[in-house]
Amino acid sequence: MKGIILAGGSGTRLSPSTNCINKHLLAVYDKPMIYYPLSILMLSGIKEIMIISTPEDISRFEKLLGDGSSLGISLHYKSQEEPNGIPEAFIVGEEFIGKDNVTLILGDNIFYGQGLTNILRKAVRNHKGATIFGYRVKDPSRFGVVEFDEERKVVSIEEKPEDPKSDFAVTGLYVYDNRVVKIAKKLNFSARGELEITDVNKKYLEDGQLGVELLGRGFAWLDAGTHESLFESSEFIKNIEQRQGFKIACIEEIAFYMGYISKHQLYEAGESMKKNDYGQYLMEIANRKHVQQYWDKIDQNPGLGLIENE
Ligand code: TTP
Repeated sequence: MKGIILAGGSGTRLSPSTNCINKHLLAVYDKPMIYYPLSILMLSGIKEIMIISTPEDISRFEKLLGDGSSLGISLHYKSQEEPNGIPEAFIVGEEFIGKDNVTLILGDNIFYGQGLTNILRKAVRNHKGATIFGYRVKDPSRFGVVEFDEERKVVSIEEKPEDPKSDFAVTGLYVYDNRVVKIAKKLNFSARGELEITDVNKKYLEDGQLGVELLGRGFAWLDAGTHESLFESSEFIKNIEQRQGFKIACIEEIAFYMGYISKHQLYEAGESMKKNDYGQYLMEIANRKHVQQYWDKIDQNPGLGLIENE
């Protein structure tokens, strides 16, 4: 399974903050926005990840994250010339995807909640067709909306419907089999001039191969694409981190926990930022004598950035 983070777009809703910097490099509390989707892919066990962004910004992501070796993963970079729509990720990433299945996550989507890792790992492991993730929202008309029956079989999927058939929005996390590349290449531009991810999902639905996983009320799904939601996301992350003393989407911690990097590497990563709380946090974890004790503690405080036992 390959992973793609789509981190291009125009970011017009965050202007002027995004006039000369890519939205996904802005901080959500104590780390760049892109750390959040990256942590989700890492937690689901995906180690080969492509970051797609604009031609102007792609080198900045490379500067931030490098080739991934410091996290024990492999990171690739490619630009999307124009924001032509979400499914273009599969066309831009065709060579990278090769014959594999692929999980796509939007760079401004933040997920948090107990059990997410397990849901995702299962979806990634047993993959056939397409899996989307539904989340109940108050204002479904603003989103892609998924309707399903009592057995959770998808009945319909509609983009920003005036009269939504359910309260479940389709989040920016999608798991597809390799057919998605062919499907994306056959799409036509919509009335708003974009390739639409809803059209990809509709094709899987027609073929009886669209599954939906529901993220229940214990989950938070935030998209940090407006000034208001960016501030709210920062506040949310700050509150949880300060309350629990654990960091959310701390990619070095996840790499250590997944067994991708050593204690020594974790310590060194922390030391390079030792003047701030983020660096001190990494050093503190690396210094713990009883790693097991720390993991036990994690199990009592599950959430994103933390892994439940399988
Ligand atoms: P949007 O929030 O729909 O668009 P945007 O980021 O360009 O922002 P704005 O509406 O403020 O102009 O995009 C959702 C996510 O998908 C976001 O993380 C950017 C990414 N994206 C791309 O990388 N390429 C694209 O072609 C599109 C449409 C989105």
